[in-house]
Parts: sequence; C-alpha cells; structure tokens
Amino acid sequence: MYQYDDTDQRLVDERVLRFRDQMRRFLAGELSEDDFRPLRLQNGLYIQRHAPMLRVAIPYGTMSSPQLRMLARIARDFDRGYGHFTTRCNIQFNWVRLEETPDILAELATVQMHAIQTSGNCIRNITTDPYAGVAADEVLDPRPYCEILRQWSTLSPEYSFLPRKFKIALTGSPNDRAAVSFHDIGARALRRDDGEIGFEVFVGGGLGRTPMVGHRIQTFLPRHELLSYFDAILRVYNRHGRRDKKYKARIKILVKELGPEAFAAEVDKEWDYLRGGPARIDDDRFAAMEAHFRSPAATPADAAENGLAGHGDPAFQRWLARNVAAHRLAGYAIVTLSLKQTGNPPGDATAAQMDAVAELAERYSAGEIRVSHEQNLVLPQVRRADLHALWRDAADHRLATANIGLATDVVCCPGGDFCSLANARSLPVAEAIQRRLGDDAAAADIGPLTLNISGCVNACGHHHIGNIGILGVDKNGEEWYQVTLGGSQDGPPAIGRIVGPSFRAEEVPAVVEKVVGLYRLQRRDGEVFVDTLRRIGHESFKQHLYGADHDAHPQA
Ligand code: HEM
Ligand code: SF4
Repeated sequence: MYQYDDTDQRLVDERVLRFRDQMRRFLAGELSEDDFRPLRLQNGLYIQRHAPMLRVAIPYGTMSSPQLRMLARIARDFDRGYGHFTTRCNIQFNWVRLEETPDILAELATVQMHAIQTSGNCIRNITTDPYAGVAADEVLDPRPYCEILRQWSTLSPEYSFLPRKFKIALTGSPNDRAAVSFHDIGARALRRDDGEIGFEVFVGGGLGRTPMVGHRIQTFLPRHELLSYFDAILRVYNRHGRRDKKYKARIKILVKELGPEAFAAEVDKEWDYLRGGPARIDDDRFAAMEAHFRSPAATPADAAENGLAGHGDPAFQRWLARNVAAHRLAGYAIVTLSLKQTGNPPGDATAAQMDAVAELAERYSAGEIRVSHEQNLVLPQVRRADLHALWRDAADHRLATANIGLATDVVCCPGGDFCSLANARSLPVAEAIQRRLGDDAAAADIGPLTLNISGCVNACGHHHIGNIGILGVDKNGEEWYQVTLGGSQDGPPAIGRIVGPSFRAEEVPAVVEKVVGLYRLQRRDGEVFVDTLRRIGHESFKQHLYGADHDAHPQA
C-alpha cells in the first residue's frame, strides 16, 4: 500500500488545522452559513435530514487494518456505532456532531486518511477494481496509476472549481469490475499483440438524471501518457463545460453536445501541448510508485487445498462458489465479505464488524482490505488453505453471507431515511426484496443477477446499471418505485429500460419475484438473467408484469 511521505502528511495535517479554525469561526458566528458551506463541503461534511454527514475518502477503495480500526473507532466514539460504505468506495458517517468533525479529521490524519474532495466540483475519489493487483485476469495492476492520479488531483488549483464533480475509474482487467463506462473518465488497460500495455479511454459516462454509457475516445493510449491525456480531457472540460445550468454541467453533456469525435479532436489539440511534458509517467517514476504496491504474498503458497472439497457443508460450498475469486498466485484466493445480510442496510458495517474485518485481514490477508463499489469488503490476500477457517470466523460476525453477485447482494443508497434529496426510502425496500427472495440457497438458485436501488434520480445506488433497477419517485407526495430492466456494468455495458408505470413500496417485492419467475421459466441451461432478458426481450417482461394491456395497471 502507498504510505504518505512528509509532504502528504503535512498537507493533511494543515488541512485539519485550517478546518478546525473554520469550524470555530462558524460556531462563533463569524462565518455565515453561506460562507461556511463551501468550506465544509471541501471536507466532506454535508448537512442531511437528521444530522451532519461526513464522507471519508478511501483512495481507490484500499485500506489497511489500522485504518479500518480507526473507522470503527470513529463510528463508536463519534457516531451511532456504524458506518455506510458507498458505491464510490468511500465511507459515510450519518450521525456526526458538527462541532466534533475537526476532531474526527484529526484522528483520521493519524492513519493517513481524510475527507478532502469527497464533495464539491472537483476530482473525486478515484475508484478501481476491488481485485486490483491480485486478480487472475489482470493485464496490469492499476493501483500505481490510481495513486499517481490521486496525487495529481488532490487540491489541484486548476481542477478545484470544475463545472461539476468529476469521477474517474480505472481497471486493469478485461472483465470490468469498476464500471469504467459509467464514469466521467474511465480507462481499461490492454495488452497489444506486441506485448505493449496501454489504455482504452472512455469519457462522458455517468448515471444521475441523464444516464449515459461513456464513449471510447482512445483505443490504445500509451501508458506513459495516461496523466497528460487526462490533463488534456480535464482542460477541455474546464474550458468548455457548461456553468450556466447545474444539470448540463457534467462532462457527459459536453461530450454529447460536441459529439464524441469533435470532443476527442479538442482533447488531441490540447494534448499536443502536454504530451511528453512533465506529466509523462516515465519508467523510473512508475517503478518508484509500483514499489509501494508490491504484494505481500510474493510467492505462490502451498497449492494444496487443504481438503476444501472435503468440507462438505453446503453453506461453505455455496460461499466458496459465490464469495471466493481467483487470485493471480497459485494457492491464494480473493474473498469478499458480504455486507448484505438480510436486514442489514446494504453497505452498513457496525464498529464491531469493522474491528472484526480488521482482525480477519491481519490474520488472513496481510492486513489489507478493499471496498467494492457494490458496497462489500474484500480480503485480497487469503491463502486457500485458510478459506474454511476464515469462513467460520467471518460467520461469527455476520460477514459470511454467500450472496456475492446474487439478487440479495442489493446495492442501495441511504435514500429517504437519511438523504434530504430522496423521493423515497430505499433501505426498507431492499430488505423487503431480500426477505422475499429467500436465503442464500434460494438466491443461488436464481443465479447471478444484480439489483440496485436509488432513492432519487441522482442514482447514487447505480440503479441504471442493475439488471433490475429500482428508483424512488415522488407522486403527489407519495413514495413510488419505477423499475428498470437490463442494466449492466459490463459485457456490454447498458442502461436499464423502464419497464412501465411505477409501483407502490409494498408491491415491489412481488414485482421482483415476478420478473425472476419469468426468467426461471424461460432460462436455458446456464443462462444468466440478463442473457435471458436480452434473448426474450423487454416486452415479454412488461407483458408478464402488467398483462397485455400495458396501460391498464391500476396504479399507473
Ligand atoms: C449525503 C447524501 C448524498 C447526497 C446529497 C448525494 C448527492 C448526489 C447528487 C446530487 C448526485 C447527482 C450528481 C450528478 O449526476 O451531477 C449524486 C450522484 C451519485 N452519488 Fe450521491 N449523494 C449522497 C449520497 C451518496 C451515497 C451514500 C452514495 C453511495 C451509496 C453516493 C454515490 C453517488 C454515485 C455513485 C452517483 C452517481 C451518479 C454519477 O455521478 O454518474 N452518493 N449524488
Ligand atoms: S440517490 Fe438520491 S436519495 Fe439516494 S443518496 Fe443519492 S441523492 Fe440521496
């Protein structure tokens, strides 16, 4: 993992001191609400429905066990004993006290963490594949590039006041676990036939009220020029992005208005000035950064499975099948600890669970933890021989739900229970769906199916890219839910289509069950939900849900 140098540490420490003084002046009435708002937002502090909310950055979703222990301590000492891991791999504390936030930031600084750029019109936390550096299918470890981008973007004077927020995701694998097509900039590493590695670059993807799949504007960007090219994109956006209307300000609107080719041509013009300049990532610079990310598990472990198959417990076998992924080193595995036990608000972890994960990471994963954008925690360095013991220990803390990638692994924003922008609650709907779909065995029987819920059009729960997406809408002051089908983050990326008129909260579980029911009826051997949907078509599901007369739905 990257360790702060003196400059990083000083920057974060000074930021805490400055914020402490800003808070003091605000509480003393020397700063107005309006003056204080941008200052608090630059430090991740929102004012929400019930209380201030603090969003803490987890750079590219990577944490050490002491950092996670610190998050547990903050949850316990400054909040109500839990935190919420988000779809952007950060953590949010929903019940902090305004006057204590400088103390929280001071505590975070002691473990090289902060809340800088978790809000505001700047470059937000860069996200990546939660399996980065260990995935069996990886072309390159994207984390050194993520860290280079983090340093470039942190408190950058040029990019601190962009037209709107800006999100970047990188992946080093052909199987996209970082949703790169749905970011302002997404990049995916590729290896050419001649062995050279570069990046495909996508721009203008995003969710929110105008969901769009990103356009590919580079088919093979030389890896040395990743930063100079991103700089060129940001400059074009900063210059031409619309500042007149908030809803038109994201880069996706600029790319759409200019057209991807014309946008790419503008970027190329700018890149001519930057290419080969100081932003070039030469081999020495890259090697120095890469050294921070050397795997603690450098040599293959004893490949013996230690009789894993012999542990006949079907619950363990289900967990192996769903929560354990292939590691690039023989004898190791990547394990996802599910934060989606039925009844647990998706992505929430209690302080005790965070402490437990830190402990498990130390015992089984070289002290390393990742956050996935599906709001789960990943242990990336587990010896296969330890899998059974890890499973048993994780189960003691309700962290061994075997549902990764299944419909009960619901991705969900905090919705109306916490967020002041919400049209509807999302957490109770998630729980009702989980209950209706049943236990891990029942969910496994349905097979891979992503289900995402957002409480409003801002799409923090990524509902557009769920195979089944659920969006809270407001109808005359009542909570309703619109259902989309066919969203997908990968292979190929797609935005879900609205299936028809929206439903009341109490109808949603039965609607999901009906959708799943048609799939089960129609699926061919081994066919996953989204493939059946693509084969038999959206209309079949619409008819199944609403009957032949689509408009006759009573609650339309
Ligand atoms: C304090 C609570 C929150 C507020 C006020 C908030 C606000 C917003 C707004 C206004 C947007 C739309 C912006 C745009 O597209 O230009 C948005 C998008 C988004 N937010 Fe949140 N959000 C909150 C919590 C969360 C949480 C808890 C998550 C993760 C679970 C999250 C992740 C995202 C993501 C992934 C998007 C995607 C849209 C995109 O940028 O393409 N946010 N949020
Ligand atoms: S999707 Fe809407 S309700 Fe949910 S967290 Fe985002 S802004 Fe709030």
